[in-house]
Amino acid sequence: MVVLSGYETVKDALVNHAEVFADRPHIPLFSELTKEKGLLFSNGDIWRVMRRFTFSALRDFRMGSKMIEDKITEECRCLVNTFKAYGGKPFENSTVVTTAVANIIVSIVLGNRLDYDDPTLCRLVTNIRENIRIIGSPMVQLYNTFPSLFRLFLGSNKEIYTNLAEMQEFVTKTITNQKKKLDVNDQRSLIDAFLVKQKEEKPNPKLHFTDVNLVFLVSDIFAAGMESTSTVLRWGLLLMAKYPEIQIIVTYIPHNHSKSSNIPVCHWSLLGIYCNVLFFHAACGLNKKRD
Ligand code: HEM
Repeated sequence: MVVLSGYETVKDALVNHAEVFADRPHIPLFSELTKEKGLLFSNGDIWRVMRRFTFSALRDFRMGSKMIEDKITEECRCLVNTFKAYGGKPFENSTVVTTAVANIIVSIVLGNRLDYDDPTLCRLVTNIRENIRIIGSPMVQLYNTFPSLFRLFLGSNKEIYTNLAEMQEFVTKTITNQKKKLDVNDQRSLIDAFLVKQKEEKPNPKLHFTDVNLVFLVSDIFAAGMESTSTVLRWGLLLMAKYPEIQIIVTYIPHNHSKSSNIPVCHWSLLGIYCNVLFFHAACGLNKKRD
């Protein structure tokens, strides 16, 4: 094990020797679950190739510009309608906010959104949330620190495997369907883009664009994007409720509105930047002095 101490040393390692320090640590349960495939828990060449592909695919599907913004705007409209249906009464918002975020990822990865009561979407969200809860449990932390000692006690381990298997079965079915109707000239989702790469990859013993890597990559994107984004959004809602004066400023800022709905769309005007910084700064918990 190498321990780095001090700002200059850490900066030197991460900036000047990024390649050497890029690998993730070996975490027993995650390595067993993923066999170090995909993006989140892989290392070396697989990680580099999957990361480069994912970033460029998301950029090609216009991360931050129109195409993805349209999907987000459409999802916002559905989410706002669901909120309105409660008629101003209090309700548990975590499920619907998480489902809305998952749905945006569904639409980028698979190509189309699903209804909030679609059983597949509901199972997907439940499986991921349940696994994230188990992964954060004290027993899993102990298992990851002393794997041989705690292997026998890890009862919930089975549930993690069942949830992951169910999710991966859905992803595998989707890949099989997408393969049948793949049009190289009309790539509609991240899965399509991966399948095109798969066709292009020259046969060699160290293939990266394999079905197994695709299944893990898709699961990773859901796991990484869903809870993180919905937690930030829910903190944002809470802070907006707690500080109505900020809510008023944001509400009255003259946004451009989407043509198809009355939902504000993001533009990098000074006020737009103010809203983004304020929202993210506050929601990510950096705005400590307002406590
Ligand atoms: C506000 C929301 C988000 C926060 C706070 C967040 C935070 C983070 C952080 C801190 C990491 C680095 C973890 C590490 O290196 O150990 C990370 C990695 C990652 N995030 Fe996010 N994330 C968010 C949204 C998303 C979304 C929406 C997606 C996908 C659609 C996503 C996909 C990923 C992936 C794939 C990685 C792994 C990258 C790699 O291994 O190179 N994240 N995220």
